[in-house]
Amino acid sequence: MCGIAGYTGPKEADSVLTVALERLKYRGYDSAGLAVLAEGDVGIRRAPGKLKNLSDLLAAKPLRGHTGIGHTRWATHGAPTECNAHPHTSNDGKVAVVHNGIIENHEHLRRELTAKGCIFRSETDTETIPHLIASLYTGDPLAAIRAAVGRLEGSYSLAVVFADKPGHIYAARQASPLLVGKGKREMLLASDLPALLPHAHQVCYLGEGEIADLTPEGIELWSFDGTPVTAAFAPIEITAEAVSKGDFDSFMAKEIAEQPTVLARLVDSRLRAGRLVEPDLGLDLKAVNHIVFLGCGTSWHAALLGKRFLEALARVHVEVDISSEYRYRNPIASGDTLVVAISQSGETADTLAGLRLARAKFIPVVGLVNVVTSTIARESSGMMPLLAGPEIGVASTKAYTAQVMAMYLFALQVAKAKGLLSLAQEESAIAAALLIPELAARTLALCEAEVAEAADLFASAHATVFLGRGGEHATALEGALKLKEIAYVHAVGYPAGEFKHGPIALVTNQLPVVCICPKDAMYEKMLSNLQEVRARAGRIIVVGEQGDRALQDLSDHLFPVATSADHMLQPLLSILPLQRYAYHVARRRDCDVDQPRNLAKSVTVE
Ligand code: M6R
Repeated sequence: MCGIAGYTGPKEADSVLTVALERLKYRGYDSAGLAVLAEGDVGIRRAPGKLKNLSDLLAAKPLRGHTGIGHTRWATHGAPTECNAHPHTSNDGKVAVVHNGIIENHEHLRRELTAKGCIFRSETDTETIPHLIASLYTGDPLAAIRAAVGRLEGSYSLAVVFADKPGHIYAARQASPLLVGKGKREMLLASDLPALLPHAHQVCYLGEGEIADLTPEGIELWSFDGTPVTAAFAPIEITAEAVSKGDFDSFMAKEIAEQPTVLARLVDSRLRAGRLVEPDLGLDLKAVNHIVFLGCGTSWHAALLGKRFLEALARVHVEVDISSEYRYRNPIASGDTLVVAISQSGETADTLAGLRLARAKFIPVVGLVNVVTSTIARESSGMMPLLAGPEIGVASTKAYTAQVMAMYLFALQVAKAKGLLSLAQEESAIAAALLIPELAARTLALCEAEVAEAADLFASAHATVFLGRGGEHATALEGALKLKEIAYVHAVGYPAGEFKHGPIALVTNQLPVVCICPKDAMYEKMLSNLQEVRARAGRIIVVGEQGDRALQDLSDHLFPVATSADHMLQPLLSILPLQRYAYHVARRRDCDVDQPRNLAKSVTVE
């Protein structure tokens, strides 16, 4: 979703801000802009499309000054045009605002401000804000912003500059993330940590309902009611390298390749002297008899596997809910219910709303998140970090496998707390988990040539079906989502047993059908599914064990995967060739794998 950046200090603001916006573009955007303060004026440059368009504009019409704000816009209200791009200004041009979120009462405010003589020049909800602030401004920016936020309904983070307040950036946060970075006699503002690098060394997360005044010397912070707040800074622990592509052509390729390391780090973090250690969740896991997993997209797919692990290992009743559905039900909860909110970003609006709904019902919520400083992490009663490192590609890859492994370890812990896991079972489960990183590395190497070859053949296919049973149904859904989102190929995942109840009508000799066939209890059933597709001349891609003759005979392509000692963990390996397949197909179709059209990395609006 939209990204905010701000800079005040000795450097040229436009150059710091354009780098910061580059680092925010993974969130998804369709236009961008800057406002820079200079000599009692606010200079504005905005451009639709890629950031290059803004850079070209700045090269042609430079903006000089040491204080400024910038924005990448992901359109909600109004098309991605120059006049809808941020910053938006008051009619006298003296107040400029960038905004992330949605102002829900914008129509009412627009009517009111228009009646007072304001002229609106965009279709955005955001434009109400500079007009509102300007109408309340009598020389005290904080008083005007405080009064303005009292009128705004919805979610927002804002950065504001005033032509007559050189060196100052004002910021406000209500339900959308905003971070302040401290450098050497310079302060920065951003929607996400990578945009503060490399200038800032310390970070402070603005709290809900807080207003900040940034100058190169420091920060002053208040709650919306005017009570002073102490800004808590912590060292920034990620490096600029961690958020760069390194030798890879895309973040997605880098993040797929990182999975063996990520999985090893995660498993190691949960072991002490060869035994499982419980994350400190502040919960009596023995007393938990009902778990609700909440997630969206890929995180929801991971939850489907979590359900299988918890039910099989800990015999706990588990529901999996799509966050946007859960939040509008009136879910039943009892004293032994636990909600687990699964989110890579920790900022997904629907998952956050589900978490808040659960907490309002006094249900404990554990966050299974990658970004440990995120809102979901902070609002959860307990936290299980994924330790996957920054995930920049819009398509979630390493966070997915980390989520799945984290849920396996969590299921073991619940089973252990309930006395359902003997020492021998614990040891063998740990041994199986410890083998996965090596098997993942082997799988990525093993499958690459076949995957690339199949992508060459099927890159122009109009649709693809993915079939799997048991845990591999989640793999089928996730494989289909990857192909849809980055290669724009219509794709669906089905439980293979359901295929003959309708979707099999789709099969022709033009349709690739990807069948996930591990050597587990469902293997023979999957062979029957392969026969059914083959009998109708479908093009078969199989994900299965290397050298499996039966699978080779029935398929056009076999994506070989290593075999896990524990069948339950096999989906961690089966998904790897499908991530690579989506990547290769996308490349052949000239798609931008890191920033697919219409998508955002953190979905902070409904
Ligand atoms: O940050 P989250 O895990 O909460 O994000 C949830 C979904 O938006 C996300 O998984 C989305 O589906 C990805 N684009 C999938 O690759």
